[in-house]
Amino acid sequence: MVAGGSEGIGLAFARRLAMAGHDLVLSAEKAQPLESVARELAREFAVTVETVVGDLSDERSLEALCAIADEREVGVLVCNAAVVPFGEFLKVGRDEKMKALAVNCRAPLWLIDAMAPRMVARKKGAIVLMSSLAGRQGSALFSTYAATKAFDLVLAESLWDELRDHGVDVLGVCAGATRTPGWLRAGGAPMRFAPPVMEPDDVAREALSALGRRPSIIAGVWNKLAYAAMERLLPRRVAIETLGNSTRSVFRTRA
Ligand SMILES: NC(=O)c1ccc[n+]([C@@H]2O[C@H](COP(=O)([O-])OP(=O)(O)OC[C@H]3O[C@@H](n4cnc5c(N)ncnc54)[C@H](OP(=O)(O)O)[C@@H]3O)[C@@H](O)[C@H]2O)c1
Repeated sequence: MVAGGSEGIGLAFARRLAMAGHDLVLSAEKAQPLESVARELAREFAVTVETVVGDLSDERSLEALCAIADEREVGVLVCNAAVVPFGEFLKVGRDEKMKALAVNCRAPLWLIDAMAPRMVARKKGAIVLMSSLAGRQGSALFSTYAATKAFDLVLAESLWDELRDHGVDVLGVCAGATRTPGWLRAGGAPMRFAPPVMEPDDVAREALSALGRRPSIIAGVWNKLAYAAMERLLPRRVAIETLGNSTRSVFRTRA
């Protein structure tokens, strides 16, 4: 089951899981792209693909996914969908902030709370929570998003420890800039002196192979190196300022 599986990293997870022979349940807000990838994956990999169209900030969409999970054996749950408010905290609307909180934090919590007990009962299952490098420290202009991604990372790492003795693998994935439709729509562009932009399939492949091996990963060797250097060498205050200044320069270019 991939919550947010119609494009980008979510679609890359779906494709990799279908390639491994898993039937799929995919959700997204927009029906047409979702139905189109569902047909494509079903045809290409000869698997069954069910879809749930709806906004994950809405309880009805979460309940629709949980209802399917009650009838099927969800082997792998990928919590991928995210809302990314961008801009000065004081200028981003409250509705957008609350939607980010609902989609990025409440939805994964809801789905995991509903599905983990059955995984534990079967002593088998896996949960992937998409986080972000933005969630590893304060990230100006991404404040709400970064904070929700810190929640996802800490939730994943905590559950990794709690559920591993019950046969359930949990992984938090900190992606850096990744060439997805969402990233491109947000005006994503390679930044000078930043690690190279990754492809969605590289993130999904690395995540799936790390499942069961560690609580969380930073995707991509350059992201790992850059963050190891930043987290170990720079005082936290300097790291936050450096990232904030780099985001501000992109924002100024965009404005
Ligand atoms: N791309 C990056 O550079 C990057 C970097 C760090 C972390 N990440 C993380 O990686 C994950 C995927 O990112 P991405 O760039 O692949 O995203 P994306 O291209 O924007 O795709 C997100 C997926 O989630 C669905 N979705 C979004 N909002 C939804 C909502 N309210 N209800 C239901 N479905 C919703 C989208 O479908 P609809 O549009 O039809 O709803 C789509 O299937 C996110 O958790 C993000 O925080 C991405």
